[in-house]
Amino acid sequence: MYVLGIETSCDETAAAVLSADESSCRIASELLSSQSKVHELYGGVVPELAAREHMAALPILTSEVLAAAGITLQKVEAIAVSRGPGLRGCLLMGLNFAKGLSLARNIPLVSINHIEAHLLAPMLDNSSLDFPFLALVVSGGHTELHLVTGVGEYQPISRTIDDAAGEAFDKSANLLGFSYPGGASLAALADTVQKSRFKLPLVMRESEGFSFSGLKTAIALLIKENQSNLSDEAIRAELAYAVQRAIVDALIFKVKQALERTRVKKLVITGGVSANRALRNAAIAIPGINVFFPIQEHCTDNAAMVAYLGWRRFVGGERSHAGEPVMDRWPVESMRPPQNER
Ligand code: KG4
Ligand code: ZN
Repeated sequence: MYVLGIETSCDETAAAVLSADESSCRIASELLSSQSKVHELYGGVVPELAAREHMAALPILTSEVLAAAGITLQKVEAIAVSRGPGLRGCLLMGLNFAKGLSLARNIPLVSINHIEAHLLAPMLDNSSLDFPFLALVVSGGHTELHLVTGVGEYQPISRTIDDAAGEAFDKSANLLGFSYPGGASLAALADTVQKSRFKLPLVMRESEGFSFSGLKTAIALLIKENQSNLSDEAIRAELAYAVQRAIVDALIFKVKQALERTRVKKLVITGGVSANRALRNAAIAIPGINVFFPIQEHCTDNAAMVAYLGWRRFVGGERSHAGEPVMDRWPVESMRPPQNER
């Protein structure tokens, strides 16, 4: 069977076709239209512009992704689409587009929680990964740890009380002169050096949840103190290194705590920031733990993870109805297993 996946929760329009039988699957095609050039000018995502871009891109991207998979809409047995959380106007574009296709062609619809799709994305890319595992979702909008025991079974361990890890990367990158979203550029610069003369405080040692506001202030102060030296590439790289080190250390500290508490031996790191090489290396170095990541293309927002979760839920008997509203806020722990698996 074929599942068409559609993702428009933030600033990437994405579509994918998953080809599957009852027990195995592969991505037949996937496409992504990034809007970063549109939002770069404003230093962040402008929701109205993002929604408009989605509307323009969706029909073209969808027909292209079907053509790339060598199929037509007639062959599609389910349409999976992100219903939330995310930017309301953006979600509306994807959800309404998918509802239109579903109603017009009589194809079942499965609406998807975007964070749940991130959580299970590593299962698409690692066939040996099974439940239970501890999962860290680190993206531009989310930093949360869950104990995952099945599809729709998420026990929150901790989450950020202020900024997300991706925001900490992006805001620091902005201070270092990178355009939005600068996380990956800051990481690339940081990886050009092996150490730093700059020190940042160890954070989150006492608190329950993740918190990046203290670190953000310390980073802003450190970069400000060195503002006049930012034209020196070595100094800029060492500042980037110190920032990356501090964010990664804070994340790994919390992950280790949770691994000890839950006694789980499998760790998943997913979401945009899971593309970060320093974070990956630090996680792999945790003794006695098997670590799983999505492939690079499936760390940041994509439709393959949406199609994958759509397939899992569809074969579990789940169907959505055309009256469902978008869920701009939608905690992943409120999800339940698919219909037939409850
Ligand atoms: O999951 P995602 O694509 O979108 C959200 O749902 O938020 O995550 C985007 C975030 C951005 O903050 C971006 O700067 C960050 O992921 N990111 C990285 C790297 N690649 C993407 N941060 C650090 N290092 C990277 N290599
Ligand atoms: Zn995301």
